[in-house]
Amino acid sequence: MQKSSIEFPPGPSSHIPGKMVRSIVKDPINTLSKIAEEYGELSHFKLGRMHVYLINNPDYIEKILIYDYSNFSKGPRLQIAKRLLGEGLVTSEGEFHKSQRKLIQPLFLPKKISSYGAIMTDRALRMIQGWKNGSVVNIHSELMKVTLSIICKSVMDYEMESKQAKDFGNEFEITKKYSSRLQHPLGQILDRVPFLPKVAQSRNAGKTLNTIVYGLISERRKEIESRAKDKSPPGEDLLSKLIIVQADDGSTMTDTQLRDEIITILIAGHETTSNALTWTYYLLSQNPQIERRVFEEIDQVLGGNGEDNKQPSISDLPKLKYVEKVLRESMRLYPPVWTMGRFAINDYPLGGYTIPKGSSLMFSQYVMHHNEKYYDNPETFDPDRWTEEFKMHLPRFSYFPFGGGIRGCVGESFAWQEGILLIATISSYWSMRLVPNQRVKLQPGITLNPKNGIKMKLKSRRKSS
Ligand code: HEM
Repeated sequence: MQKSSIEFPPGPSSHIPGKMVRSIVKDPINTLSKIAEEYGELSHFKLGRMHVYLINNPDYIEKILIYDYSNFSKGPRLQIAKRLLGEGLVTSEGEFHKSQRKLIQPLFLPKKISSYGAIMTDRALRMIQGWKNGSVVNIHSELMKVTLSIICKSVMDYEMESKQAKDFGNEFEITKKYSSRLQHPLGQILDRVPFLPKVAQSRNAGKTLNTIVYGLISERRKEIESRAKDKSPPGEDLLSKLIIVQADDGSTMTDTQLRDEIITILIAGHETTSNALTWTYYLLSQNPQIERRVFEEIDQVLGGNGEDNKQPSISDLPKLKYVEKVLRESMRLYPPVWTMGRFAINDYPLGGYTIPKGSSLMFSQYVMHHNEKYYDNPETFDPDRWTEEFKMHLPRFSYFPFGGGIRGCVGESFAWQEGILLIATISSYWSMRLVPNQRVKLQPGITLNPKNGIKMKLKSRRKSS
C-alpha cells in the first residue's frame, strides 16, 4: 500500500473510530483547548475522513482572513444555513458576497447607525420597567427578547411588542431552532421526511416568515415612493436604506436579495449581542467590586447618583470607558462566536506545512482569548488590562470576537453601541445576583449560550422601585 506523502503537523490521533467526533460533539471547547495546549500553534486531526487543522497562532489567522482570504470558502455547513438565510451576507460567497458587502457595509458605519441609539435605550427601558425588586429573571431570555426587539425595529421598523408580531416571533424562533437542528447530521436525514411534525412545522413557519418579510418589503417600497412624491426623505430603518442603495451599475436589490439580507441581519444581530450581555451580567454578579465601578461611571456620566440618572444617549458613549472595557473583557472570556472555520480551495502553505485543498481550518476565539501567552492570568475577569498600550501591543488576531477581513462582522459598531447603551440603561437601575445553587454551564452552539439561561435576583438601585 502506498503511504501518503503529505506531512501533517502534530496532533491527536486515535485508532478508535469516531472517538474524536464524539469528543468534539460532547465537549468542543475543552477538546480544542487541550489540543491547542498540547500541540501548539498549528495542529492536525481527523474528523471522520476530513482533515482538520486547528490554528492557534494570531499571525496565521491574520494571513488566512486578511491576506489570502480568496483561497478560502466557508464550506458545506453554509449550504445548510442557506435554507434559512438564502444568499445573505453570512452565506454568500465570492463575487456576489463582495458586491453585496460593498453595498451594505457603508450602512453600518458608526455615523449611519447612531439614529438607532434611541431605539436601543428605549427598548431596554421598556424591559426593565417590567422588573420588580427582589424578583428573579432569566437574564438570558430577557436579553434575547430585547435584542430581537431592537434589531426588528432598527432593521424593519417593526414593533415586536405589537399584536401581529406574535406570529413573527413564534415563527422566527421555530425556524431558528430548526436551522440549528439541521447542523446535526441526523437532523439533515430527518429533514427529508416532510410529514414529521417538526419538519412540517418548520416548513410552515418558513412560509409565514417569508410572507411577513415580503409584505414589509412591499409596504416599504410603497412608502418610499409616496415619500418621494412629497419630496421627503426615506425612513431611517435599514430596510428603506437597502431598498434605495445602488450598485455601481445603478441596479438595486431584488425582493429576494432584500429578504435574504434582512433575515440574515436579524439572525446574526441579536443572539450574539444578547450572549455578550448575558455573560457580562454573570461576570458582574460574581465581581461586586467591578460592578461598583460600573455603577460609579454610569452615575457620573449620566449625571445622577443612581437615583435621578438621565437616559443614556449616543453622545455618552465616548465617556463610558470603563463600561466598554468591561464588555471587551467579557467578550474575551466568553466570546459570543467562539469558533470559526474555513475550507482551503487550493493547497496552502502555512507554518512549514502544506495544507491540502479541501482541508478544514478552525480557529477558536475561546481558545485564543484564554491563551496565557497573550493574557496574564487568563481566567481572571480584569477589565483594567485593556489599556491603550496593552491593546497596541497585542497581535491583531489574539483578540477577535468579531472575526476580521472581508468577512468580519459587518455589525460590529452596532454591537458595541447596543452593548454599551444597554449596560448603561440597565445598570442605572438594577444590580443582579446569581440565584444560589445554580450551575452555570456553557452551551457552545453556533454562539456561546449559557445552558438553561442564567437566573438572577434583581436588586433595585433606586429607592422608588
Ligand atoms: C457581540 C455581538 C456580535 C459578535 C460577537 C459577532 C461576531 C461575528 C463574527 C465572528 C463574524 C464573522 C464570522 C466568520 O467570518 O466566519 C460575524 C459576521 C457577521 N455579523 Fe456579527 N457579531 C455580532 C453582532 C452583529 C450584529 C449586531 C449584526 C447586525 C446588525 C451582525 C451581522 C453580521 C453579519 C451580516 C456577518 C456576516 C459578514 C460577512 O460575511 O460579510 N453581527 N459576526
